[in-house]
Amino acid sequence: MGESGKVVIVGAAGATGKAIGHALVAAGHEVVVVGRTLSRLEAAFPTRSANGGGFQHRIADAETAEGARAACHGAETAAVALGLPYHEFGRYPGLMKTLVDGALAEGVRRILLIGNVYPYGLPRVDAGGLVTEAHAREPVAFKGKMRKAQEDVLVEAARAGQVEALVLRLPDFMGPEAELSYAKSIVDTALGNKTANLFAPIDTPHQFVHVPDVGPVVARLMTTPAAWVSGPEAAPWLHFAGSGLITVEAFAKLVYAEVGARYRARKVGRTMLRILGVFDKIMREFVEMQYLQSDPVNLDDQRLVGLIGEPQRTPYAESVRAMVAWAKALKAR
Ligand SMILES: NC(=O)c1ccc[n+]([C@@H]2O[C@H](COP(=O)([O-])OP(=O)(O)OC[C@H]3O[C@@H](n4cnc5c(N)ncnc54)[C@H](OP(=O)(O)O)[C@@H]3O)[C@@H](O)[C@H]2O)c1
Repeated sequence: MGESGKVVIVGAAGATGKAIGHALVAAGHEVVVVGRTLSRLEAAFPTRSANGGGFQHRIADAETAEGARAACHGAETAAVALGLPYHEFGRYPGLMKTLVDGALAEGVRRILLIGNVYPYGLPRVDAGGLVTEAHAREPVAFKGKMRKAQEDVLVEAARAGQVEALVLRLPDFMGPEAELSYAKSIVDTALGNKTANLFAPIDTPHQFVHVPDVGPVVARLMTTPAAWVSGPEAAPWLHFAGSGLITVEAFAKLVYAEVGARYRARKVGRTMLRILGVFDKIMREFVEMQYLQSDPVNLDDQRLVGLIGEPQRTPYAESVRAMVAWAKALKAR
């Protein structure tokens, strides 16, 4: 497709990368999918086509200077969909600098970064209110500081006029392929007929996005020039709020009902998290993010709607049904 040229998706084999890749090819874009593991890329994007009708697989490590250049070679647009393990968030800023430098050296014109709500820190809105893109970025947790620093690498390049940027902020993932997500941990305990571990409090409003809904949103943004910004005032942030507000407790009940298991939940407070964290390094990482349960950062996405119209927002029951079916198939493999 002429308008956005060739698109490389860096970190394509993850949940968002898959959704974006398939939506872009369906919309007629030429797509290169990048990762470090060929088998993962082939499993996520089984069709191979050299003539632009399918996916071109490319192996590159975006964390090295050569790998970053190789990843971005020949692309007009780079979509950064890679994630790092929770305990390795300190690598985000350096990785992003290497990747942006590589993209610029290869003449990439536009960079999309998939982001999350961590850079905002505590929501400065009335209780239950939504946060707009104008909200101050004042992260309170180490992981939020690292994600902000990652964004800042791109913002700096955009403000220097080197590239057009877009940071698409997403809430928690749900749905098929959402492997590394809070929702998946709830689905797994339900499928195991065990007690769900829910971070307390569990009755505050929360947002989830059905990951396959992200693909069409990105496809529309690719052909929406106003979404991409550059220059001294560039503010590249854009929210996609997903399927709307729900409490984590209501979400978990939907999951247990879909699985056919009796719902039971353990409320994991800060003290219990700290104790679990002594034995489990991932649990340890959740301690500083616990504020998102008591003071959830829920996104207002009216700016996105103004740019591309109302996006697909898969209802919770439908997403949970699809997620449970996917997780069951995964277990059966
Ligand atoms: N999980 C959530 O609820 C949630 C919510 C909002 C936003 N987000 C954010 O959304 C983004 C995407 O998350 P995701 O779960 O879709 O992706 P992901 O699975 O965390 O990462 C996608 C892929 O990136 C590849 N990758 C990692 N390091 C790489 C490198 N140095 N070079 C090339 N490829 C590399 C990995 O494949 P290989 O190992 O094979 O290279 C991995 O399959 C992340 O930034 C995440 O924080 C997540």
